[in-house]
Amino acid sequence: MVGLGYIGLPTAALIASRNIKVTGVDIHQHVVDTINKGEIHIIEPDLDGLVHHVVKDKFLTASTTPVEADVYLIAVPTPFKGDHERDISYVESATRAILPTLKEGVLVIIESTSPVGTTEKMEAVIFSERP
Ligand SMILES: NC(=O)c1ccc[n+]([C@@H]2O[C@H](COP(=O)([O-])OP(=O)(O)OC[C@H]3O[C@@H](n4cnc5c(N)ncnc54)[C@H](O)[C@@H]3O)[C@@H](O)[C@H]2O)c1
Repeated sequence: MVGLGYIGLPTAALIASRNIKVTGVDIHQHVVDTINKGEIHIIEPDLDGLVHHVVKDKFLTASTTPVEADVYLIAVPTPFKGDHERDISYVESATRAILPTLKEGVLVIIESTSPVGTTEKMEAVIFSERP
């Protein structure tokens, strides 16, 4: 899971609660450190207990560096810029960050709210850098 905010952290914790190993990646060290202590940095009812449980059982680990995975979910911000235009630069940064870890046949899902065409743009980035 790339991006451990209001979408990424609950989703990561839920997947981990099904005994699937999840690595959560965030660019902010304090987010990573907080989660690795089994604590949370956002306000979300009942999430603290779930995160505590999955971190203790080692199904959820946080890191600032992406690792090799079978499935990648990108849940980074896509704020508005200008006139109702979404800024997809965070999605591109996240895509570029996972590039060195990608192997053939993995699934990459963009969970961030994105304009039509974003998936194709990121697909082009991936296949131009890792043909
Ligand atoms: N919060 C919601 O209710 C909600 C609902 C639907 C859709 N969304 C969409 O989901 C996406 C994420 O929203 P959110 O509310 O979880 O945002 P958020 O700000 O709570 O969390 C985003 C996290 O991504 C991290 N991040 C930024 N760039 C990164 C990078 N390159 N690599 C790794 N981590 C990075 C940030 O440090 C932050 O912790 C947005 O596109 C948003 O529009 C959010």
